[in-house]
Amino acid sequence: MIFPETRLRRLRYNSVLRDMVTETKLSVDDLVMPLFVCAGENVRNPISSMPGNYQLSVENLVEECKKVAASGVRAVLLFGIPAEKDEDGTVACQHDGIVQQAIRVIKAELPGLYIIADICNCEYTTHGHCGTIIDGDVDNDTTLETLANQSVSLVEAGADMVAPSDMMDGRVAKIRKALDDNKFEKIPIMSYSAKYASGFYGPFREAAESAPQFGNRATYQMNIANIDEAIREVDLDIAEGADIVMVKPALSYLDVIYRVKTEFRMPVAAYNVSGEFSMVEAAAANDWIDRDRVMMEILTSIKRAGADIIITYFAVDVANILNGK
Ligand code: PBG
Repeated sequence: MIFPETRLRRLRYNSVLRDMVTETKLSVDDLVMPLFVCAGENVRNPISSMPGNYQLSVENLVEECKKVAASGVRAVLLFGIPAEKDEDGTVACQHDGIVQQAIRVIKAELPGLYIIADICNCEYTTHGHCGTIIDGDVDNDTTLETLANQSVSLVEAGADMVAPSDMMDGRVAKIRKALDDNKFEKIPIMSYSAKYASGFYGPFREAAESAPQFGNRATYQMNIANIDEAIREVDLDIAEGADIVMVKPALSYLDVIYRVKTEFRMPVAAYNVSGEFSMVEAAAANDWIDRDRVMMEILTSIKRAGADIIITYFAVDVANILNGK
C-alpha cells in the first residue's frame, strides 16, 4: 500500500500517539555518572573545560553522590586523582589509594549506589601513559600485573564492578583470574573493548590530570578508522570473560555500537565522552543550540544505535528531565 492510502504522517499528528509509537526510550536505569575524586579536604575544583564537573575530595564526592542518587541515577564511575604519582601506577593499587578511600566512604553512606571503578594507570603515572614504560613505550605484560592488582584492591574496597580502560592485550583474562583467585567471582567486568585513540578525550585529561607527557596513545588505543578491528577486540574480550563490552567514544562511533550489538547480542555500554559533552556545553553557552534538546537527541541516538548502558556527564540532567524535574 502506498500513498494516498498510506500516510506516515497519520502517526505524527497527535502527541499521545507519537509517544505510543516511540521506538527508543531513554531510562534512568541506562545511565552512569562519571565522577572525579582527588586527595585533600574540602576540595571542589571546577574543571574549566567541563562546566558543572569538579575534582572533588572524598567528603564532597559523597555529597555529589547524594545528588546523583536523588536524581534517580543509580550508578557512578569513579576516576581518581592521587596526591602523588609514580612510574608504574603502583599508587593505584594501595589499600588507602584515593579511589579505595572514596569507595569505602560512599558504601558506608550510600550502600545502594552502584560503584564502577575505572581501571587504568594514566591518572597515576608521572608520564601519563596507561601503563609501565619499557623502551619508550607502554609494556603490555608488565602493565597487566598492575591492572590486576588495582582491580583486586578496588573490589576489596567495595567496588561493585571494574571497568578496564587501558587497552592492553589480555587484561580481561588477567583481571578475571585475579578476581576469581581472591573469591570475587561475582564481580562483573565491563571492558572498554573498542576504545579509540580519540581527540574527544581532551577535556577529561584536564579533569583527570592524565595527559601523556610524551608521545600519544596510538600504540594501545585503536585507530579511529577501523571497525573490523573493533569486532576482533570485542570478540577477544568476550572470550576472556568480559560481562559487558564498551564502545568509546560514542557519538562518532554509532556504527561501531550498532555492529557490536548486532554481532554479539551482549550487553553493550557506550561512553559519551568529555569532548562530546563539552562541545554541547560550549555551543549552548553561545546560544547556538538548545542544550537540553541536543543532549536528549544525542543520548537517544546512542541508545537507538544499540547501547544498553550510557556513561555520560549529562546523566543527572537527563534523569531530572526524565523525571519531570
Ligand atoms: C583513561 C581514560 C580516559 C577516559 C576514560 N578513561 C582518557 C584517555 O584514554 O586518555 C576518557 C573519558 C572522557 O573523555 O570522558 N584511560
